[in-house]
Amino acid sequence: MTTKVGLIGWPVEHSVSPAMHNAAFGALGLDWRYHLLPTPATELEAAVMTLRRGEWAGANITVPHKEAVIPLLDSVSPAALIIGAVNTLLTRDGALVGDNTDAEGFLADLTEAGFSPAGRGALVLGAGGAARAIVYALVQAKCTVTIHNRTPARALALAAHISRDVDVSTVQAVPHGVPLQELDLGAFELVVNTTSVGMWPHKEESAWPEDCALPAHLTVYDLVYNPAETRLLRQARSAGLRAIGGLGMLVHQGALAFERWTGQVPPLPVMGQAARGALTVSRG
Ligand code: ATR
Repeated sequence: MTTKVGLIGWPVEHSVSPAMHNAAFGALGLDWRYHLLPTPATELEAAVMTLRRGEWAGANITVPHKEAVIPLLDSVSPAALIIGAVNTLLTRDGALVGDNTDAEGFLADLTEAGFSPAGRGALVLGAGGAARAIVYALVQAKCTVTIHNRTPARALALAAHISRDVDVSTVQAVPHGVPLQELDLGAFELVVNTTSVGMWPHKEESAWPEDCALPAHLTVYDLVYNPAETRLLRQARSAGLRAIGGLGMLVHQGALAFERWTGQVPPLPVMGQAARGALTVSRG
């Protein structure tokens, strides 16, 4: 019997995960299949129940269910609890376990790109769901983190939440009214965009103001992966900075889920190539 995994979210039809995982199953000769499970909020509980049937090994969870799924599970990993979001479900002896591979996937990609986070200063743009995983990851990796957000109260709340749960004093929020132009950028080595600014179809927008010079010592990481080359990455490259797009994190978080489900070493190059191919197709 073919083992199933799937993606629970709404909408899910533009996801690159089926291409990425099915290519990996094929490369390893596994009789597994990744399915799209489009699930409106009213059907989340039923979709989770479906996973309790024998042929399912787990699932990915995406927008808008990453938080709402938590009470429907038997247990949740410490990282997913602190981040407050589950992106990967595993079935273990009939129980459903929630996990989060976003933080680990981000750190894996950042390190692969040649940036060692320990002891560095990081400026995180945004304070939404994506920011929670990134701030958690950076704090775990011993970065000093500053959060800047359009709505400063959310940045403050995120800093307070992470400080409380991981017991560190290395995370702070930029206070109300202080624009990016007024920050001392010498305090940072890394800027991470976790906002949706610049995402297709708004690809001419950037989370970084044009009138704010990017010092050449910075590394810029944009979580946006569609388009692959965002305006922010172009700004960074033209200022001579190291610039990293979000596709690598997407592939690594998927690879970590693949490893948790199958127990096999994920074929990263195969997954990366499939994800890039699927993105090109989905953008026509
Ligand atoms: P996600 O789960 O993808 O992070 P989210 O929780 O809606 O989505 O958060 C989106 C983030 O992008 C927030 O930090 C949001 O800022 P606000 O908290 O002020 O809403 C940020 N964001 C979205 N559009 C933005 C824009 N046009 N300019 C600046 N920040 C923006």
